[in-house]
Amino acid sequence: MAVELIDELEAGELSVEFEGEEPQVVLEWAIERFSPRIAISTAFQVDGVVVLDMAAEIDPEIRVFSVDTGRLPQETFDLIERLRKRYPRMQLELLAPDPLHLQRLVARKGPNLFLESVENRLLCCNIRKVQPLTRHLATLDAWITGLRRDQWATRTNIRKVEIDHDHGAIVKLNPLAEWTEDEVWAYVRERDLPTNALYDRGYTSIGCAPCTRPVAPGAPSRSGRWWWETNAPKECGIHCAIETGGFEHELHAILGEDTHG
Ligand code: ADX
Ligand code: SF4
Repeated sequence: MAVELIDELEAGELSVEFEGEEPQVVLEWAIERFSPRIAISTAFQVDGVVVLDMAAEIDPEIRVFSVDTGRLPQETFDLIERLRKRYPRMQLELLAPDPLHLQRLVARKGPNLFLESVENRLLCCNIRKVQPLTRHLATLDAWITGLRRDQWATRTNIRKVEIDHDHGAIVKLNPLAEWTEDEVWAYVRERDLPTNALYDRGYTSIGCAPCTRPVAPGAPSRSGRWWWETNAPKECGIHCAIETGGFEHELHAILGEDTHG
């Protein structure tokens, strides 16, 4: 039986209700309401591991997906293997970009296009990450992220329950919205959770290998992402539609869509 989705009004009311509540309260409500058409979206960063641990306590068979962009660091795969052992019943799906789109991207722009311009970087993020994620979200009623308000300026206003208008108006849950980085790490220590080995080498936010680097102690956590760019959003496009006007033409050509449509 199809689950009735919620509207903006209900999402707003629930966000108010859940403010000040622990993340598990949001997760329990959401899993109960949307299972089995709900899944955790994770890049296996520290927030994602915390959300997974909490959700697996509620439902050991929780669905989890991650986009394997093809450029992830080996350390991320090592962590995935450790998590598969720790949560043997989770239903993990690793999503891949469309091979034809990737082939066209690299043929037109080369493998390291992201270093050349912000438009190229956003194009790469779109083909490698946004497209596979968007395709997967079309099969769900709700997705759970590890987003936190303290991560970056673009995230200070996120609510715990949102309607995701960029992805078919499904429900987007951000149970860790209120938590600080310190709280996340305290939970990790308390539960002795495995984490990406790159954190021990000064990384504070971990995405694709060529676009992520360690930062100096005390630097903003996302400053090591796409560090060579100035005046660009430190976002890849999965959490906000990026309207630059700069890469749409290339994108449509790669996707094989009619650019005049
Ligand atoms: S990003 O926009 O810069 O890539 P970030 O790495 O901060 O995002 O992660 C924020 C949240 O986005 C994660 O908690 C996760 O829910 C989702 N996310 C990021 N990368 C992926 C990915 N590769 N696959 C699935 N979800 C992801
Ligand atoms: Fe491409 Fe870098 Fe974006 Fe990964 S983070 S998809 S390599 S531009």
